[in-house]
Amino acid sequence: MSLRAVVRGVGHYLPERVVPNKEFEATLDTNDEWIKSRSGIERRHFAGDGETTSTMATAAARAALSDAGLEPKDVDAIIVATSTADLTFPSAATMVQAELGMENGFAFDVQAVCAGFIYALSNANALILSGQASRVLVIGAETFSRIMDWTDRSTCVLFGDGAGALLLEAQDGKGTSDDRGILSTDLNSDGRHKDLLYVDGGVSTGTTGYLRMQGNQVFRHAVEKLAATANKAMARAGVTAEDVDWIVPHQANIRIIQGTAKKLGLPMENVVVTVQDHGNTSAASIPLALSVGRARGQIKEGDLIVTEAIGGGLAWGAVVLRW
Ligand code: ACO
Repeated sequence: MSLRAVVRGVGHYLPERVVPNKEFEATLDTNDEWIKSRSGIERRHFAGDGETTSTMATAAARAALSDAGLEPKDVDAIIVATSTADLTFPSAATMVQAELGMENGFAFDVQAVCAGFIYALSNANALILSGQASRVLVIGAETFSRIMDWTDRSTCVLFGDGAGALLLEAQDGKGTSDDRGILSTDLNSDGRHKDLLYVDGGVSTGTTGYLRMQGNQVFRHAVEKLAATANKAMARAGVTAEDVDWIVPHQANIRIIQGTAKKLGLPMENVVVTVQDHGNTSAASIPLALSVGRARGQIKEGDLIVTEAIGGGLAWGAVVLRW
């Protein structure tokens, strides 16, 4: 027998306001064709007045709980992956905990920018395998629209807001790659690349700041590092690309998604793609894609999934799981 962190429920939340590429043409020297051809993005959602990372995270959490047929009191821990928490503190996760009416358990945030959900999954897996929690809500939620420099066409057209959540539950497995649940994780970071992607402000500098990115430099790192981490995680899980039903990548750019799939030897038919509808939602992009992939009928129970992400830090990683 071996303990596994198994997906029991999934859900997501997207703000009502949808912003098509064309909307940027009024204020920026850009156009729909450039954005679509360079990034694959056609539209994104932006949070409305009064909507925050924690309100969206709570909505996604409720959807995942409902999918699992569970109540907030059944959950032991909440992890929110975010770089855009409502407040400097407390964590968005404790705000979600309060909003759900939970009086039990513990909650904390994980910050690894676009790789945040991979880091959060890995933490949740460790909590479950060590017996510290039996059911963990793992949420990715972001309001990147609030850290955009609206005069910088090279960044502000790429990002969106939203939230997605998984409910992970401890279940017994056989210890083989046929088990449901998380089969392996792989985390990496290299802080020397800070200047490629960062926010030029923060608490100890006394400002909020805006996102700054050398997109073409990040691109150069992305495909190679994503394929390497996915291969490492697959080897650790004892599976090969041939066994994989779905790649669920971080949704930053369709060309990165295509390049990584090609490097892994998998056709695009095996990739869940949502970047056209959501833009880059940072830590929310993977749980959003998992939830949408499930709702579309792409992801089925028993499917082998490789999920991978890279973002600011640089931080990157992958998780192999059987749904
Ligand atoms: N509209 C029109 N032209 C534009 C726009 C725009 N919105 N933005 C930039 N351009 C111009 C540039 O100024 C440049 O013009 P120049 O040649 O006259 O200097 C030209 O387009 C090409 O710019 P590049 O940056 O070289 O374009 P590229 O093909 O690399 O595409 C993009 C840019 C989409 C940002 C791409 O590099 C990318 O997706 N990078 C990776 C992003 C990513 O994965 N980030 C990691 C996750 S995010 C996170 O962690 C928060």
